[in-house]
Amino acid sequence: MKKVKLAIFVLLLIIGSLSLFGCGASDKGEDNSNTGGEKTYKVVTDATFPPFESTLPSGEIVGFDIDLIKAIAEVQGFKVDIQHVGWQPMLNAIDNGKGDIAIAGITIDEERKQKYDFTEPYFDATQYILVPENSNVKSLDDLQGQNIGFQSGTTGEKAVQKIFGKDYKGAKGYEDLPAAVNDLLTGRIVAIVGDNAVVGEFVKKYPDKKLKVVKDDRFEVEHYGIMVKKGNTELLKQLNEGLKKIKENGKYQEIKNKYFAE
Ligand code: ARG
Repeated sequence: MKKVKLAIFVLLLIIGSLSLFGCGASDKGEDNSNTGGEKTYKVVTDATFPPFESTLPSGEIVGFDIDLIKAIAEVQGFKVDIQHVGWQPMLNAIDNGKGDIAIAGITIDEERKQKYDFTEPYFDATQYILVPENSNVKSLDDLQGQNIGFQSGTTGEKAVQKIFGKDYKGAKGYEDLPAAVNDLLTGRIVAIVGDNAVVGEFVKKYPDKKLKVVKDDRFEVEHYGIMVKKGNTELLKQLNEGLKKIKENGKYQEIKNKYFAE
């Protein structure tokens, strides 16, 4: 009898310490340590997309989106831990909960809205065509039958498919736009379809590469939103409130002026 009691006692001790460990782990998940009680959200991005997000040689991630999410975090009283993971891994991170917030010049579209939740739009965009300066491409029609590059899984890809068909042989997907620019310079592709502000930035960023931008009004207007997992309404509310506040207090405009001085 004594032995049985002892065994039960030991068992209870084990269960007790296990649940203590359990608690410790979930506290860590919230990451309240060293942040004065403020919650830290994991922000994932694809920092190959200047001026919205890019990585400095120092490793620091900078850009319009980065300033935006930091400003929202500040007015809402939370912290952000920003990580460059790449475009597709970013989407996966939201799916599997490894990331809480994705910000990457992400266009709000019907297909994505099935799977994710988006904040109110924070920036308008459209697709542009990027070509070498000496190209005689004047519109989408001139690209028919030629190799066209875009970042895989983006609205650039969707736009090319919409105009040239889903099985278009010349469609060339890249992991990111800088990789597509490399192939444009070697002539493997004749043009890139990508977000206007970003291809515009490439023209400015690499003056020696002699690139130019071509517009076509068949490209639709797009709106960027900050993305969270579907059903994460609490976080979505936080982000929308923050976005509203920084639009009202002038911070949004300040960030816009910093990156888009006209
Ligand atoms: N706006 C486009 C889309 O949502 C392209 C975004 C690409 N962003 C990036 N950080 N690479 O599909």
